[in-house]
Amino acid sequence: MAAGMDRRPVKVRARDLAKEFRVQVAGRHRAVRALDSVSFDIREGEFVAFTGRSGCGKTTTLRIVMGLEQASSGSVEIDGRIVDRCGYDRGMVFQHAELLPWRTALGNVEFGLEVKGVPAHERRAIARQALELVGLKQSMDRRPDQLSGGMKQRVGLARALAIDPEVLLMDEPFGALDAQTRESMQSELISLHEKTRKTVIFVTHDLDEAVLLSDRVFVFTPHGRIHEVVDVGIRRPRSDMVQIRGADEFQEKRYHIWKTLKAIDDHSREAVA
Ligand SMILES: Nc1ncnc2c1ncn2[C@@H]1O[C@H](COP(=O)(O)OP(=O)(O)O)[C@@H](O)[C@H]1O
Ligand SMILES: [Mg+2]
Repeated sequence: MAAGMDRRPVKVRARDLAKEFRVQVAGRHRAVRALDSVSFDIREGEFVAFTGRSGCGKTTTLRIVMGLEQASSGSVEIDGRIVDRCGYDRGMVFQHAELLPWRTALGNVEFGLEVKGVPAHERRAIARQALELVGLKQSMDRRPDQLSGGMKQRVGLARALAIDPEVLLMDEPFGALDAQTRESMQSELISLHEKTRKTVIFVTHDLDEAVLLSDRVFVFTPHGRIHEVVDVGIRRPRSDMVQIRGADEFQEKRYHIWKTLKAIDDHSREAVA
């Protein structure tokens, strides 16, 4: 759907986000600019990918939207309400699930619900349902050291989903997985999104992944700006991965984003030279 025709309400709104980190280099304080004037509107149920070189501010943007980090200036709103802390309307999935090693998969998913204050007798059923949703019905009682990398990521996803957030923030969640596991996680995420219609922001530097999953791809520059927003326009439901990957439309979008990234790269190299 073209952005201009999209009538869904805005779910996540960022306005002029800037972020400077103070770092100490050789005993001196210096400011590192991570973000410089980032603005966007993401609509309810939309799936957006952030891509760009490492260090261009993708994680920082996500952490500000989550409420884990405060912007130096600018604002984020969810449903028109200013974000100034974490909230259960948002859930985050990290590159490494960082599970509690002494708890089972089920126990890890329940943990988030404990923190949320969900009564004990409800927690188990909700956690089970979330684990079933990510295909871990058979392995709920395993501890993290008995789970593969892909399974751990599923637990991380289930932990976020159990809270039933409206916005799902995913920071290179499949980045550490082997190619085949990654592909199956991608198609499961697509069907999950189709089922739940959550608003998703998904950070990846894998362009196939960005185009395959998202409605729009935001291309960041190394200076913490959004250089271009690419409308993917591949129709949903996107259940047939093989067909999509082979389609001209997919190849064209992927190539377009690749060229944009290359131009950004060449430009910043010239600026340094
Ligand atoms: N906690 C921090 N302290 C100092 N600098 C940081 C911190 N977090 C991120 N940065 C810097 O901000 C910039 C953007 O980082 P990040 O958002 O992690 O980029 P990305 O996720 O796109 O790789 C980088 O230059 C990074 O070094
Ligand atoms: Mg990052």
